[in-house]
This record gives sequence, C-alpha cells and structure tokens, in this order.
Amino acid sequence: MISITGAQFGDEGKGKITDYLSTSDTLVVRWSGGPNAGHTIQVEGKQYKLKLIPSGALRSEEVMITGNCLIDLGKLIEEISYLKEEGFTPTIIVDTNCSLILPMHKMQDQLNDAILNIGTTKSGIGPATASFVSRTAITIQDVMNHDEKNKIQTYFKLHHIDEQYFDENINETKKLISLMEFKNVVLLKRELIIDIIKNAKNVIFEGAQGTMLDINHGTYPYCTSTPCLASAIPYVMGIGDLQIKRNIGVFKPYVTRVGNGDFPTEILDGPVKEHLQSIGKEVGTNTGRIRRVGWLDLKALKRAQELNNFTELAIVKLDVLTGLKTIAVLDTFGDWWNFEGWEEDITNCKSFSDLPENARVFILFVNYAIKQIKFISVGPNREQTIEIKALENK
Ligand code: IMP
Repeated sequence: MISITGAQFGDEGKGKITDYLSTSDTLVVRWSGGPNAGHTIQVEGKQYKLKLIPSGALRSEEVMITGNCLIDLGKLIEEISYLKEEGFTPTIIVDTNCSLILPMHKMQDQLNDAILNIGTTKSGIGPATASFVSRTAITIQDVMNHDEKNKIQTYFKLHHIDEQYFDENINETKKLISLMEFKNVVLLKRELIIDIIKNAKNVIFEGAQGTMLDINHGTYPYCTSTPCLASAIPYVMGIGDLQIKRNIGVFKPYVTRVGNGDFPTEILDGPVKEHLQSIGKEVGTNTGRIRRVGWLDLKALKRAQELNNFTELAIVKLDVLTGLKTIAVLDTFGDWWNFEGWEEDITNCKSFSDLPENARVFILFVNYAIKQIKFISVGPNREQTIEIKALENK
C-alpha cells in the first residue's frame, strides 16, 4: 500500500504522482477533505481537473471516496459527468458513512469567513466538519434511511437558520437519487469498504491539501478542518493494522499558499514572484485565486517529514525554476542559502545525470536535508518523471 501526501500547503502536485504510480488495477482512495481540493493531471498533453474524485480515475478501473471525506452531491455529480464526457468511467465506490455538505454549510462558510478571514474555499468544509464533531452530521446513510428531514431541522434549530432555507437543503439531499443513477457509482457501508481495501492488490491513499493545512498540526487557525497527514489514515479509515509500506511526501522546489496565514519564505514582490506565478501556473484550481509564492522552506519540510514519517519524497515542478538567476532556500536551521539557477530546458531530461549541474547541486542540497528524493518531476506529463534509486548525500 502507498500513501501520497502533500508536504507543504496543498497544491504540491500529488495528482501527478498518484496518476504516475497507478495502473489499471490500482484502487485509488480519497480519505479526507472534500471539494475544496483541486487536482490537475495532464495526460498526453491534455489537462484534467478533479476535486473530490481521486486522480487515479484517469487510469484505474476503481476509485473510492471514504474516510473523513465530505461530499457535496451536486459537485460530485458534475465531476462524474465531466469524467464521463471525457471518456473515463471507472467504478466509483462511495462510503455511505461520509457526511454531506449542504447549502447551509456553504452559506455558513461564507458568513464565517467574512469574520474569520481565513480565506477558505467557501466549499462548506469547516461548517460540515463542525456539524460532524457536534454530532449533527447528515450522512449518505441518513438520507437512505429517510432521516435527513429531522436532522436538517435539528441543525436549523441549533444554528438559528431561517426556515425559508429548508427546501433548498432538502432538495440537495434528493440529488442522491441522481448519483445512484450513474451505473459506475456504488454506495457501500464502511465494513464493506474496509473488506475491499484489505483484499485489493494495490492501494494508493491519495491525500488532500497539505501537511501545513492539517487541522491538528498545520498553521492553526489558518488551515483546513480535516486531517491531511499520512499518519491519520489508519485512524480515519478504522483499520488499525493498515500497513502502508511506501509513504510518499510530495513537494515543490518552492512554496505556494492559497488563503491567509503564516508564510515565512513568501516573496512579496518582484520578477521572481511573477515568474513562479506565471510559469508555475499558480492559480487555485478551485477558486481561481492567484496563489501566494515563496522560496523552499526546508525547516517546514523537515517538520512535515517528521509528522508524516515519509519513506520517500517526490519533488514536482522542478522545471518551473528554469530561467531564474538565483534560487534561494531556507535551510533546516533557518539560514538562507543562494544557488545559481540554470537556463537549460529540463523538460526532456530522463535521468538525474541529464539535469544541468546547477539543478543537480540544488537537488542534492535539498536531499541532504530531507532524504530521500525518489521522484523528480520535470513537466506536467506522466512521462516527464525521473525515478531515481538513491541520491548520494553530499
Ligand atoms: P477550507 O478547506 O475551504 O476551509 O479552507 C481553509 C484553508 O485551506 C484556506 O486557506 C484554503 O485556501 C486552504 N485550502 C483548502 N483546500 C486546499 C487545497 O486543496 N489546496 C490548497 N489550499 C487549500
């Protein structure tokens, strides 16, 4: 079993690594978060954008949405239709234990964020999670058992929501019927989900968001509301003896952040900021917001490694640094280092030794601080991935 986890603030390129590592018989599992995530995957030059459906949907015959995932039925249906139009119809197994995001949650997210200024994606993640931990969640199972009306009413009472919004919320739960009409969607209880995972040949647990956005260990309160760490998978799934052999942390050779909160290596102005934003296409998949950008923070990355116990690392978007004169890095002790950049196009490099010397020096420095880099991505396509055995630690 493999887990793929973001080591920074999300948007590290987990989707690309998931897609690269999955084959048709891999079961790709989304276990946390909701439609706040946005995964961009490029296959044969064409870009696909997914939110809740795991990135494996483009390769695997079977994907799963389970664990702590929050489901917005309308958005999920849109995503399944989009995939179908693009010619992808993997079996999508959906856990009936998952909580729903209803219009009331999205409305509250808007209202809350106007006061809290976290800069959320306004997808209703915080309020839907609050609903879960305050024991008033509405799950898919509740709707199947026709319990949704009184549960929504209770929620309305607790949060003093005007009755006029009731129908809008109920109508949203009715979308479950349309979801069931897709022949490739299978709704299953958690016990069966666990059986499938335990018996699957290859499983990839695809993380959402990133370590620094984790509800417990991220930059609280500027974080998401669900767990993002690989160590949460056995707990969230309810499989205490889950054996994840390869625990892959994904990071970019620079840092991006959407939304507010601490960002020690942020670049506030100037041509490097513009370079990273435009060449890196650093625009939120979900919200269209331009991402904040900064230099690589090895101190934070080291912390991410400790928190997740990564067995290997993938550095994605190395090609975005091409053309920069100087590349700065904050080391694990909090000191700044400057590296000379490179001008050569690296998008066709097939091995570590194909990379320009300055790129190799930079990678070796990073690898020395946070071993072990196993993958280097030099472009958005699947083939633009260099797999390396072990880098010498200089
Ligand atoms: P929420 O998850 O919508 O509540 O947003 C909380 C914070 O997490 C905000 O700063 C969002 O921009 C950020 N966030 C949530 N999901 C993602 C993601 O997939 N990538 C990057 N940032 C995210």
